[in-house]
Amino acid sequence: MDKQRKIFIAGHRGMVGEAIKRTLQQKGYSNLLLKKSSELDLRDQRTVYTFFEKEEPQVVIDAAARVGGILANNDYPYPFLMENMQIQNNLIEASLRQDVDKFIFLGSSCIYPKLAPQPLKEEYLLTDSLEPTNEWYALAKITGVKACQAIRKQFGNDYVSLMPTNLYGANDNFDLQTSHVLPAMIRKFHEAKENGHVPVTLWGSGTPMREFLYVDDLAEAVVFTLENTLPEYLYNVGTGEDLTIKQLAETIQAVVGHQGEIVWDRSKPDGTPRKLMDISKMHALGWKHQIKLKDGIEHTYKWFLENQGNYKEVKL
Ligand SMILES: NC(=O)c1ccc[n+]([C@@H]2O[C@H](COP(=O)([O-])OP(=O)(O)OC[C@H]3O[C@@H](n4cnc5c(N)ncnc54)[C@H](OP(=O)(O)O)[C@@H]3O)[C@@H](O)[C@H]2O)c1
Repeated sequence: MDKQRKIFIAGHRGMVGEAIKRTLQQKGYSNLLLKKSSELDLRDQRTVYTFFEKEEPQVVIDAAARVGGILANNDYPYPFLMENMQIQNNLIEASLRQDVDKFIFLGSSCIYPKLAPQPLKEEYLLTDSLEPTNEWYALAKITGVKACQAIRKQFGNDYVSLMPTNLYGANDNFDLQTSHVLPAMIRKFHEAKENGHVPVTLWGSGTPMREFLYVDDLAEAVVFTLENTLPEYLYNVGTGEDLTIKQLAETIQAVVGHQGEIVWDRSKPDGTPRKLMDISKMHALGWKHQIKLKDGIEHTYKWFLENQGNYKEVKL
């Protein structure tokens, strides 16, 4: 891959986009096109088309989205559906019009049916009903996957979708109203430690099983996809290993150094009992994650400590 190629990273200030930007820069990619949402609102079709006509990117990585946890998805269904479709539709159509060589679309494991067999294989897409709490977001992402697949099928362009498992790392969202489980736990354990090791209350029973991928590993998967022509339209990206939420909590508690009690609030929902990606397709092509969960949590906690007061407070 020519390292001078013009690569537009949509959403480069987000957790995923920032890791992709950093990884590409470290590998010598020097022609990155980067715009904040305040400079380029990707929901606005006309603005996006004009931007593409002027800048003529050769590669587009779509890491821009309205992202959030269960609470946010449940309370704000319309923006999770509509804004995500607007963002991705504008990027996909503008890329097709401008003959962009490679388009990498990022979605998430929530595209798969709620009760799909585990581990989740790519072919389970659209075989059953979605998890209702985030179906709005999932539906938007499914239309993105399908738009890229349709372009691939009809025009033969190299448009690929990557579905990461739960991600965590630097630049994560630590706002307790909108964050995912892992960063929320880091913040809760940290604040409980600061308050004299008071008990930490966590949602549910602690028994559901989840998989977590350090965001720099995802960035490596994106670079792998950039540098290779992958034969299929959809790939899962994860570690292939899961653990219970209780084990996760204990790991984070140990990293943070909280010595108080963990209280499980069983009146709160657990969500899906297990969610693990089948990543055999990416493994067969030669990509595998490198960062172990405990190491990733240590890096993330270090980032949290260095950026306290600076981390995102997400407005909805
Ligand atoms: N976080 C996870 O655990 C996870 C897991 C699986 C998949 N993913 C996928 O990874 C992608 C990125 O997630 P993330 O966690 O990095 O999200 P994030 O930290 O919230 O970042 C999202 C980015 O999207 C940009 N954006 C949002 N609305 C925009 C708009 N209207 N115009 C232009 N830019 C806009 C934001 O730009 P500004 O900062 O400039 O406002 C921000 O940089 C999503 O597709 C998500 O599905 C994430």
